[in-house]
Amino acid sequence: MSSVDSQLHAALALARAASGVPHHELRRRAEALSHRYRTEQINDATPGMSDALDALAYAVVRMPATFRALHTALAAVERHVDGPVTTHVDLGGGTGAAAWAAAARWPGLAIEVVERQSAAVRLGQKLALGNWLWTTADVRRWSGRPVDLITIGYVFNELTPDVRREVLQLTARHARTIVVVEPGTPSGHARILDARAQLIAHGFRIAAPCPHQHDCPVDWCHFATRLPRTELHRHLKDGTRNFEDEKFTYVVATRHPIHPAASRVIARPTTPKHRVVLDLCTSTGTAEQLVVPKSSPGYRAARDTAWGDAW
Ligand SMILES: C[S@@+](CC[C@H](N)C(=O)[O-])C[C@H]1O[C@@H](n2cnc3c(N)ncnc32)[C@H](O)[C@@H]1O
Repeated sequence: MSSVDSQLHAALALARAASGVPHHELRRRAEALSHRYRTEQINDATPGMSDALDALAYAVVRMPATFRALHTALAAVERHVDGPVTTHVDLGGGTGAAAWAAAARWPGLAIEVVERQSAAVRLGQKLALGNWLWTTADVRRWSGRPVDLITIGYVFNELTPDVRREVLQLTARHARTIVVVEPGTPSGHARILDARAQLIAHGFRIAAPCPHQHDCPVDWCHFATRLPRTELHRHLKDGTRNFEDEKFTYVVATRHPIHPAASRVIARPTTPKHRVVLDLCTSTGTAEQLVVPKSSPGYRAARDTAWGDAW
């Protein structure tokens, strides 16, 4: 576990202990919340988190995973965008996963979290790693000001296409770099493709994960990050494994110069006998399979390459 993962888990354990909520109640809330998210039943009328217990259940069960996905997407900003990151606004910030991820990557970053559910804001403030600004508001009401980075993590599945368009217009006017992260489902990928096309139309260039600016050549582009599960997490999720794989999909769009990958590994590499097989998205906008035999000089590098890496 990295030090920031440990800090997050410690903060969550403390919040749970301080709340005095029995496990069975938290588990009931976590199950109901997961069901709402899985069936994509969340919208303006039915918010995901409506009170302190929902916010706590979300933070314990989902925040470690959304934090990891956002942390991975922000690594792509560091690697592929040539511009400073000193100011950050996170829209639909929930209990602060993106703020945690950005603060871990850019210490000293000035962060504002905009979130409409006051229960999530209150818990986020308790958990916060730093002196972040919290604004309890609808993302459409964000006041707007020039900012280096805007993140929108796991929010678009709660917004209608019209509201998503409005939010992208607002953010495109103010941010140099925009990161959108969604669950790694086919519908999450469709929302990312839609955001990608709109950001290109607003004059942004795509820095990651795509190594090109062309149309996406695959039906379902997604990645996975493995994260440790604490005992409480296992108990609430009825799981026995001490890890889980969070599937996610994302786009990094920017007005800064970019250094995109030559190609991106878009599936888990396989290693049949004496070779590595990589599924790649390439700089010409095609999906290709590369077989690297053991006799090739690139074999060792291919063996060390993971799903989501640049190649
Ligand atoms: C699935 S949670 C994601 C939270 C956080 N970004 C994360 O990655 O863990 C979605 C969040 O978006 C917030 N949200 C949805 N629509 C919003 C809106 N119109 N304005 C502000 N927040 C919104 C919800 O209240 C919820 O906290």
